[in-house]
Amino acid sequence: MICSLLLFLAYSTLASATTYFLTVFAPNTEIDGALLNAAAQGFYAGLSGPATYCPQGFTCPDTQTSLVYAGLTAMAVEVPGGQAIYVAASGQIAYTPAHSSYEPAGSLTGGWFNKTIVSDCDPAHEVLDFLPVDGSSSGGIKLCPQVEEYMAGTGASFRLYAGTAAFNLTGCIDAVGLTLHGVAEDFGCWQYT
Ligand SMILES: *[C@@H]1O[C@H](CO)[C@@H](O)[C@H](O)[C@H]1NC(C)=O
Ligand SMILES: *[C@@H]1O[C@H](CO)[C@@H](O)[C@H](O)[C@H]1NC(C)=O
Repeated sequence: MICSLLLFLAYSTLASATTYFLTVFAPNTEIDGALLNAAAQGFYAGLSGPATYCPQGFTCPDTQTSLVYAGLTAMAVEVPGGQAIYVAASGQIAYTPAHSSYEPAGSLTGGWFNKTIVSDCDPAHEVLDFLPVDGSSSGGIKLCPQVEEYMAGTGASFRLYAGTAAFNLTGCIDAVGLTLHGVAEDFGCWQYT
């Protein structure tokens, strides 16, 4: 049976959630439903949990999830100054290290939008998608198997990207969007590393 997907823009409704964890919405691909975890300033599928840091002597949240704020504006962390999320020129979806607001030249912020997926066979489903506000590319969410060498041994299988003008990887899976699962936690951890 073939289900047709119809895309609509819509306002979201999850009012009580304060933070969100992320999964991939890419029906009929091997990455559909995959949980994304934060590590090494990026988001990856295949990890057993996020890479976090808790200063000695502190009591830190220990949710073992990678939590972001609505609209993927920032990581849900306690560290003063927070950790902003941006799209690097290369398309890598990244977050700033703690105690720094540095984003590499050419990075994009904003461009995230809510999209409601309506299909013949499934309930309506809300996802977050990306389109650069400056119109420099056609955007979209991609999961790419080119995982950096420094992630070897972590289980990371795909890294999260957005379609930017300079995005140039091949063999990636195009996702329909990201599913944001609301939870009542204020923070995921002290800081993601
Ligand atoms: C998407 O919907 C959520 C929930 O209503 C809202 O908090 C968020 O700001 C919206 N995101 C964007 C990019 O408009
Ligand atoms: C692809 O883009 C990256 C960074 O955006 C760049 O370093 C690399 O040289 C590019 N590769 C090709 C084959 O153009």
